[in-house]
Amino acid sequence: MAFDTLLLERDGAVATITINRPKVLNALNAQTLDELRHAILELEAAEAIRVVIVTGAGDKSFVAGADINELAVQTPTSGREHGLTGQHVFDLIENMGKPVIAAINGYALGGGCELAMACTMRIAADTARLGQPEIALGIIPGYAGTQRLPRLVGKGRAMEMILTGAPISAEEAHRIGLVNRVVPAADLIAEARKLAAQLASNAPIAMRYIINAINKGGEMSFADACQYEAALFGLVSSTEDMREGTKAFLEKRKAAFTGR
Ligand code: COA
Repeated sequence: MAFDTLLLERDGAVATITINRPKVLNALNAQTLDELRHAILELEAAEAIRVVIVTGAGDKSFVAGADINELAVQTPTSGREHGLTGQHVFDLIENMGKPVIAAINGYALGGGCELAMACTMRIAADTARLGQPEIALGIIPGYAGTQRLPRLVGKGRAMEMILTGAPISAEEAHRIGLVNRVVPAADLIAEARKLAAQLASNAPIAMRYIINAINKGGEMSFADACQYEAALFGLVSSTEDMREGTKAFLEKRKAAFTGR
């Protein structure tokens, strides 16, 4: 599928989605959300793709939030639909079963911070700023920010960030666990690709089950989640990759995983 507001690039097992509306700091409008949904479904189905990187065009912004032009004319019913659509697309990202790395190259505000949080891991440029500034517009986060932020950084910090709306630096985001690492801005894409290459050599089915166990297990009681983990642990024992991984260790060589 061709996209107007995204760039989709494939390099071996790694795909990169670049949100491409630099004139509005890559703000997400309805079309971008829809294209993102299509891109994620396409990459989820593409067997050759094992890892996805999401970033923003230009060096100033990852995503500066939902498009405020659309928010300004929203009604109660369209607002509800808008929120559900954004939540659905980000849920697809969180649960696509392949690691999705957010390479945060600048502002990650509102829907941009929510997009980054839906990704599996986050690497930030040292110049990035992250926040949920919706309160300044008289609204609240609408793409599950009120739910993902406290799960990542704790309730008190999430309350502070969402109630004040004040953005934080990449360093502070790292300190509170909102991003996994901070790198010099010039190295961001190279670092994201390095991590992607490392993940791309892992067993895809095991990675899918890990993401699933962490995401779905987090919504269950501890005891149920442990049962769920044990079921996936049993299932992964049926894979060729499990045999290859254990055999390669015993033969003192690097495993070659095929995803079967
Ligand atoms: N929706 C629509 N347009 C946006 C946007 C958004 N979320 N964020 C930025 N833009 C547009 C600006 O209106 C401006 O357009 P213009 O050139 O036609 O005037 C352009 O992008 C550049 O932004 P500008 O504000 O001039 O850049 P800046 O460097 O002075 O400030 C920000 C950068 C990110 C601090 C500022 O743009 C901002 O606060 N954006 C809104 C962030 C927000 O509230 N997001 C949550 C939405 S729910």
